[in-house]
Amino acid sequence: MNSENSQKVLIAPSILSADLGKLNEEIAALEAAGADMIHVDVMDNHFVPNLTFGVPVIRCIRSRLPLDCHLMVENPENYLEELHAIGVASVTVHFEACKHLHRVITRIRELGMKAAVAINPGTVIDGLRDVLPLLDMVLVMSVNPGFGGQKFIENSLEKIRALRALRPDLVIEVDGGINTETAELCRAAGVNILVAGAFIFKAADKKVAIASLR
Ligand code: DX5
Ligand code: ZN
Repeated sequence: MNSENSQKVLIAPSILSADLGKLNEEIAALEAAGADMIHVDVMDNHFVPNLTFGVPVIRCIRSRLPLDCHLMVENPENYLEELHAIGVASVTVHFEACKHLHRVITRIRELGMKAAVAINPGTVIDGLRDVLPLLDMVLVMSVNPGFGGQKFIENSLEKIRALRALRPDLVIEVDGGINTETAELCRAAGVNILVAGAFIFKAADKKVAIASLR
């Protein structure tokens, strides 16, 4: 049954959909609305066809919530020391972006941060098997990374179920196209953390929107 997971699901709003000109006000609103962590989407216009923000902007974030840093970048190893210095709680690197995945994961953990690997909709989970014991979390992308507001890709549900079966204690996060309906499907599949951008930022009431995902 999924009851245990569904009771404990955490909500990680993505600031990709925020007004970055008033970022800390937007984050304060997410805190007041009951967010559990802040999902920070770093894009480099190489690994993905979009460019967001990097360390100088992340350093300006003022939040009591853990920062969940999703690196959609090539050479993610170049960011780790600075993210650690900022106090980021967890770092997610992309399977498809890492030449030396084991080395990167090991370094994130050495720095005392939680280590996660993200897999794109076109990536099978098989390549994660040898690093799975080292990971705190796997991020299943339910859209192709690069943009908010895209449609949920259903094959992510099967990946969530398969990962849950491989490692029952694994934290599984899903990212992309999350709304009330897709959140329910993901909870039933065994997910622990739901990332949501457009759904929360377009809602008239962020508190109601976040509560509706749990
Ligand atoms: C997409 C990002 C997501 C994105 C999700 O590449 O990783 O975190 O912000 O946005 P929505 O919830 O709008 O699909
Ligand atoms: Zn993300």
